[in-house]
Amino acid sequence: MPDALAGNARCSRMPRQRLEFDGGRVDLDAELYRRRWRKFQKYRKERGLPWTALFTLRLLALRTLKRLDRWIIAIEQDRFLIGENTVASEYNTLEENRKWADSYDWSRGGEEWTNDARSLRAIDPGEWKNRLVTEMMLKYIRPGSVVLEMGAGAGRWTRILAQRCSRVLAADISEVALNNCKKNLADYQNIQYLLVGNGLPDEIPDESVDFIWSYDVFVHVNPNDTARYLAYFKGKLKPGGIAIIHHPGEYRSSSDRVNGWRSFMTGRFFAHLLEGNGMRLLEQNRALPHKWGDVITVFTKDGKPGRNGP
Ligand SMILES: C[S@@+](CC[C@H](N)C(=O)[O-])C[C@H]1O[C@@H](n2cnc3c(N)ncnc32)[C@H](O)[C@@H]1O
Repeated sequence: MPDALAGNARCSRMPRQRLEFDGGRVDLDAELYRRRWRKFQKYRKERGLPWTALFTLRLLALRTLKRLDRWIIAIEQDRFLIGENTVASEYNTLEENRKWADSYDWSRGGEEWTNDARSLRAIDPGEWKNRLVTEMMLKYIRPGSVVLEMGAGAGRWTRILAQRCSRVLAADISEVALNNCKKNLADYQNIQYLLVGNGLPDEIPDESVDFIWSYDVFVHVNPNDTARYLAYFKGKLKPGGIAIIHHPGEYRSSSDRVNGWRSFMTGRFFAHLLEGNGMRLLEQNRALPHKWGDVITVFTKDGKPGRNGP
């Protein structure tokens, strides 16, 4: 995903690495420091000591800031903090996501991310996609229903939804992604395309949606925005309606999170937000996502299902 989202990269930390090489030990940290020292000397000669010293100070300050961010975000995750001035929500913003999606080459239809199942989980991509569809999407989403897909992209999942449901509302913040989706799925008459501006699609009437599906989207959405979407989903779902949302969870290391441009949501945090919105958690699946650490949360808006509802 987005380089802009590499805002996250600000939180990465190079692991200490040592390699056995020709019987001797190569200390990669030492090599790194040697390289930095050489660069310092080069700049000092070319640009003078004051510029080089101040620039080095600036780098150190930025590093300290990144570390502070990591500590603050850990507290935010632990205490489920959202709202004004929360640091996690300075990352993975809607604007960054839109900028990335509007400049992305969508010609592969999103199947390039299906192929990630091989490198990330060592499983056959086709098999993985099939399992996700049968064991998650089709397990819940009933034929003939109305489905809202948030972040449709080029239509990787929209096609399957359109084949099963009576109506699909395909929403995205990126006009470029939606145009690709339209082009790829021109044969389907039951898809309505919704460009989400800075807010949420308000053309959808309240309590009119049976199911919500979103895969590979909320993994890149920050906790503040996620909370906004959950409140919105609650308003749009019919009583008894169900949402299936793929989002970040707990990772083995911060670089694992950063490399996948994951936002600072966790499984517990997501469950907490649901509870705060008065929605009921049905399951949190950690086995089906294409990346270890991710979670697929299924939840429902309780109540009596509508006549055509789920
Ligand atoms: C990695 S692509 C995945 C597309 C599609 N869901 C798929 O799996 O092939 C992420 C998509 O989410 C959209 N997106 C990102 N943030 C969003 C948000 N806050 N609301 C709606 N869509 C969003 C992007 O524009 C992009 O189309």
